[in-house]
Amino acid sequence: MKLGFIGTGALTAAIVAGLKSVADNSVSVVLSPRNEEIAAGLAARYADVRIAADNQAVLDDCDTVMLAVRPQIAHEVLPALRFRSDHRVVSLIATLSVEEVAGLIGPVATVTKALPMPMIAHRQGATILFPPDPAMAAFFGRLGKAIEVTDADEFNALSVVTATYASYFKYLDTIHSWLEGHQVSGEKARDYIATLFKALANAPDRAPDAGFMHLAQEYATRGGINEQVLRELTERDMFGAFAQSLEGIYRRISKS
Ligand SMILES: NC(=O)c1ccc[n+]([C@@H]2O[C@H](COP(=O)([O-])OP(=O)(O)OC[C@H]3O[C@@H](n4cnc5c(N)ncnc54)[C@H](OP(=O)(O)O)[C@@H]3O)[C@@H](O)[C@H]2O)c1
Repeated sequence: MKLGFIGTGALTAAIVAGLKSVADNSVSVVLSPRNEEIAAGLAARYADVRIAADNQAVLDDCDTVMLAVRPQIAHEVLPALRFRSDHRVVSLIATLSVEEVAGLIGPVATVTKALPMPMIAHRQGATILFPPDPAMAAFFGRLGKAIEVTDADEFNALSVVTATYASYFKYLDTIHSWLEGHQVSGEKARDYIATLFKALANAPDRAPDAGFMHLAQEYATRGGINEQVLRELTERDMFGAFAQSLEGIYRRISKS
């Protein structure tokens, strides 16, 4: 595969880092020259990664191209480029549909929408793909996990999950701040919380048939302290409010 990137920013850097950490990868990478500093860093760090003279030179020198610019830039830049009919195009632009991208670039072999996450740099996390694309599923599968979906609404719904990271860390920070308020050192508190939640994150893999509520019930012994926190938060409708936020994000993503 000769892989090109239009847009060399945070996400491109993460994908290239993940890709180049695979021992037997035979993918050559060609980057667009912006951002200059990130492109130069990647080309210096990894074998078989080079910087093209401009965006068109990226296209002319690759068979698979990832579109990794921000949406506003995409409208400006993509229509001016000459894509070949045999290009395999993977759009990482979260807010543009497959149809919108196809409209901006003209006829090509395939247009697939992909949503990788920055943790792809460490070959962790999952990339969702729409429509299903076995070649790109194999590519992203080696960099963590690939999940193919068969309809755009399902892609949008799964995308909502990625809006919850900051709240997750706020949840952990609430525990951390509370511990500090009770004279536990910040370092000790952080270590304990991070270690426990890392172990909890493994639970779904260890019990692949168990639903999340089943896992919750396993800890919520009747009359116990887990049951109390779960009940009190539920009574205050914390989870209801959270679900409403998810719905709002879904509407926002579906409209864009
Ligand atoms: N980061 C994420 O976690 C994430 C996750 C999922 C999807 N996405 C999507 O991935 C896309 C890229 O995100 P990102 O976080 O990597 O953004 P980013 O860090 O802002 O990268 C975008 C890059 O595009 C470059 N650029 C600007 N104008 C250009 C042009 N005319 N031709 C070529 N490149 C140009 C910018 O260079 P300059 O710095 O020189 O302006 C910048 O390096 C976005 O559409 C975003 O929706 C991102």
